Amino acid sequence: MKNYERYQNISTEEYDKKKLMYYLTRRCADKKILPYIKELKNNLILDAGIGTGYYAKYMLKDNKLTGVDINPHLCKLPVEMLAGDAAKLSDTVSGRKFDIVFSAWLTEYLDQEQLFNFFRDSHKILDSNGKLISTIITNGGIGLLYVTAAEKIRKIKKYCYSKKTILSKLQQAGFSNTRIIELPSYLKIPWAYMLIAEK
Ligand SMILES: C[S@@+](CC[C@H](N)C(=O)[O-])C[C@H]1O[C@@H](n2cnc3c(N)ncnc32)[C@H](O)[C@@H]1O
Repeated sequence: MKNYERYQNISTEEYDKKKLMYYLTRRCADKKILPYIKELKNNLILDAGIGTGYYAKYMLKDNKLTGVDINPHLCKLPVEMLAGDAAKLSDTVSGRKFDIVFSAWLTEYLDQEQLFNFFRDSHKILDSNGKLISTIITNGGIGLLYVTAAEKIRKIKKYCYSKKTILSKLQQAGFSNTRIIELPSYLKIPWAYMLIAEK
């Protein structure tokens, strides 16, 4: 089974039930992610791997949002939804351009090649001053523990990446300037990071 297939038979309500890992990791990371995305205004935003729209709901009011997901049934928000693979974004949006490509907790589903394709296609579909905003799980410490546990206990293949690998892939994909913001876990130890890459 491919890692994203785990959501095929999951409803929006089931997906949104918060489990222990949410409190240990994502909730703490949100202290950095939410203030940043709540400031975004008047942008055309593509949310890649939108899921049920956990982050999209904070950006909806002041921006125009389009969601892409390989499991589009998950999102019940009033946004335009496109069914598609993040590694083939350019085909999915067929020639349209965006100010921001946003993705949260998607890249851990992408292997090295898919991740590069996601970066390359994000660059292609961004306007000239566009930005890619994405989260990445770190390849050490709690991040590594998180993806190892997902694989060993829950049999879900997930990926984590070093900043060096990510910066090199972003540069290869055409991004020029990248800011990295560490995302803390419950113990205040970073387990992931958010990148903001400029075209
Ligand atoms: C962990 S969820 C995150 C959802 C949402 N961004 C959030 O933060 O709550 C990962 C999402 O990425 C989607 N996904 C996984 N692999 C994908 C791919 N290759 N292309 C598009 N969506 C994908 C899944 O269907 C799922 O909705």
